[in-house]
Amino acid sequence: MTAAAIEARGLGKDFGTIRALEQLDLDVRAGEFFGLLGPNGAGKTTTVHLLATLLAPTRGTARVVGHDVVRDDLAVRRAIGLVFQETTLDRDLTVQENLRFAGRLWNLPGPLAVPRIEGLVRQFGLLERRDDPVRTLSGGMRRAADLARGMLHEPRVLFLDEPTAGLDPRTRRSLWELIGRLRQASGLTVFLTTHYVEEAEPCDRVAVMDHGRLVALGTPAELKRTTGVTSLEEVFLARTGHALGETGAG
Ligand SMILES: Nc1ncnc2c1ncn2[C@@H]1O[C@H](COP(=O)(O)OP(=O)(O)O)[C@@H](O)[C@H]1O
Ligand SMILES: [Mg+2]
Repeated sequence: MTAAAIEARGLGKDFGTIRALEQLDLDVRAGEFFGLLGPNGAGKTTTVHLLATLLAPTRGTARVVGHDVVRDDLAVRRAIGLVFQETTLDRDLTVQENLRFAGRLWNLPGPLAVPRIEGLVRQFGLLERRDDPVRTLSGGMRRAADLARGMLHEPRVLFLDEPTAGLDPRTRRSLWELIGRLRQASGLTVFLTTHYVEEAEPCDRVAVMDHGRLVALGTPAELKRTTGVTSLEEVFLARTGHALGETGAG
């Protein structure tokens, strides 16, 4: 039996009077490459932070690899990797120093951490830049270093919150390639949020979110077929009445 990687039941979060996430019901299978697509303010980061135990839910429950995000938050944190919307690397430390520091936070013994870091800097194209301070790296390389750090403790579920937002199109594409290669990590579940349809397109399944609610869920092909359109942009428009690029406020 393969346990679900993520199960949310009626999961919701309010910030004062703002309902950031209404009531989310969602199952993500182990090994799935899952995309949460929505415009700014849709509730994507809130969803990730609830699942990653950084926020307490206002209502509902969620389990990540079988652990309850409230009761078993430590077990959840051990099982997940998280790449935040903004880089969280120390800009004055080198790539390698950042990764070593992360290794210590995860209590990885040196003999385990050193080869793993070596493998990750290779995998993410950072080999030549590993001894350079993070502040000297391009935006794309910095993101690649964030990804490497997110994978350091070999998580079973990797959360990527808008991993390529704000990058130029060419850099975005090269990062998509790196992210795509994560699929080869056996059994890894990837939960990615994005407002780029091109980033959602290669996902196994996509949940479309707007104003804290799921408005569609399925494979990209299913979503287009059942909506009778040819792109995920049009799926979004058909289900919400406004374009993905707009915040749709009000
Ligand atoms: N800490 C917070 N305090 C108050 N409102 C918040 C907070 N975080 C998010 N929100 C609000 O919740 C809604 C969803 O935000 P968010 O989850 O960041 O969306 P997304 O990541 O899709 O852009 C927005 O209206 C946002 O302004
Ligand atoms: Mg966000």
